[in-house]
Amino acid sequence: MTGQPLAIRACVFDAYGTLLDFASAAERCRDVLGDQTCQLTMLWRDKQLQYTWMRALQGAHTDFWQVTQDALDFSLEALGIDNTELRARLMDLYRTLDCFAEVPPVLETLKEVGLTTAILSNGTPDMLQASLAHSGIVHLIDPVLSVEEVGVYKTDRRVYQLAVDRLGVAPSDIAFMSANAWDAHAAANFGMTVFWINRTKQPCDRLPGLLHAELSDLTALPERVCLRV
Ligand code: LAC
Repeated sequence: MTGQPLAIRACVFDAYGTLLDFASAAERCRDVLGDQTCQLTMLWRDKQLQYTWMRALQGAHTDFWQVTQDALDFSLEALGIDNTELRARLMDLYRTLDCFAEVPPVLETLKEVGLTTAILSNGTPDMLQASLAHSGIVHLIDPVLSVEEVGVYKTDRRVYQLAVDRLGVAPSDIAFMSANAWDAHAAANFGMTVFWINRTKQPCDRLPGLLHAELSDLTALPERVCLRV
């Protein structure tokens, strides 16, 4: 029982983990990584996020490409992997991540009903554009908003404000989708209407910000929202 679709003006998506499958980078190096593939994906992601939070708290911003390299270097060393060629290959693959399978048809349907479909991400404009191009979804997303415009990472409120300012709509008229529960809660606490895309069946985070709904992936989203005219 899902009730009436929610009337909103724009759908704003987190990128990494929500539209783009960051695990696809290490997965495409399974020939070298073998049993360490999943461990590397998780450690790399955990460190990458920790570094964004620490840098935001310390007012020491550097872009997501650098943070992603730093996190990879830590992770490779922690796992005892010393392989320059592999490192270069992983970073190259991180620039051209695959999107999740349901993403193109979902974006197409949302656009057909007149909804704005945007990204709000920690990623640099270059990283985001490269992965969107690789996944063939550049034409389905506009605008692509990067934290580089405000020089601080999620969950600083300036990031969520960027979407409001650039789209020219009230926070509550934005449906924000993130697979990252901490990001979902922060956007909800800011005032957006949030769908948490719980792809990996995580328990609920104990954080401020009331989530509107939880979905296992993006497939059902077009049934849950409509354009408020
Ligand atoms: C992003 C990270 C948080 O795209 O997934 O902003």
